[in-house]
Amino acid sequence: MNFSDRLGIILQRTVWQRRVGSWEHEASPGLERVIDAVVDAASVGDSDRVVDLGCGSGQVALRIAGSASSVLGVDISARMVERMLDRARAEGLANVSGRVSPLETLSLPPGSASVIVSNYVLHHLGDAGKARVVKLCFGWLEPGGRLVIGDMMFGRGATSSDRQVIAGKVKLLASKGVGGYWRIAKNAFRYLFRVQEKPVSRERWLAMLADAGFEAIGSRAVVSEASVVFGRKPQAGGTAAPGH
Ligand SMILES: C[S@@+](CC[C@H](N)C(=O)[O-])C[C@H]1O[C@@H](n2cnc3c(N)ncnc32)[C@H](O)[C@@H]1O
Repeated sequence: MNFSDRLGIILQRTVWQRRVGSWEHEASPGLERVIDAVVDAASVGDSDRVVDLGCGSGQVALRIAGSASSVLGVDISARMVERMLDRARAEGLANVSGRVSPLETLSLPPGSASVIVSNYVLHHLGDAGKARVVKLCFGWLEPGGRLVIGDMMFGRGATSSDRQVIAGKVKLLASKGVGGYWRIAKNAFRYLFRVQEKPVSRERWLAMLADAGFEAIGSRAVVSEASVVFGRKPQAGGTAAPGH
């Protein structure tokens, strides 16, 4: 792991330890739609062993737990994981467990998951980190297992669709007055200097899944900034992933 990855881990842990309450209250109709789309694409059944990467306080994990065999939520923030487990207990969901770990150093037994989901997390990783996690997911999934990723998906302004998304975000924040202008400045800094916010386009995500060896790859645009991408690990005897 290089210096910038280590710095990224410290930064993310510090930021998210403090945002447990505020993230829950930030839920917007747009984000709820992305969560719905991830849950829908994961199409979890009662024999599924699910892993939620960057589970937060359980926004996806708890939605899925009712219809899964087990759900393991992984997050860099211990407070997020504690909150998810408290909520699971309150809802009587005994099949939810948690692990505190950065995705950058996470290790799971090969073939131990049938479904891996991740929502609004991987844009925090650098591009090499994203590709690495996708390849690791391929190894952690059983043959036929599914990977579903929801996230903000747009590039750095090279295409007209990127520019449309960015203009839409600026317009929305500007309509919120002084606080909105402050967020425009903050987000512009993070986005331009690739600090915290490092989204890539849906096409880049689809290519990462293909590179890792996934098949039946597809995507769904959900709201202007966010999409869901998904793929399936081939059954035994299918195409081997490069490097696996
Ligand atoms: C925007 S929240 C999303 C939470 C949840 N998945 C949802 O859909 O609401 C991002 C989450 O990713 C976690 N996170 C950020 N960077 C991470 C990393 N490198 N490894 C593991 N978790 C990370 C944060 O702690 C936080 O809980």
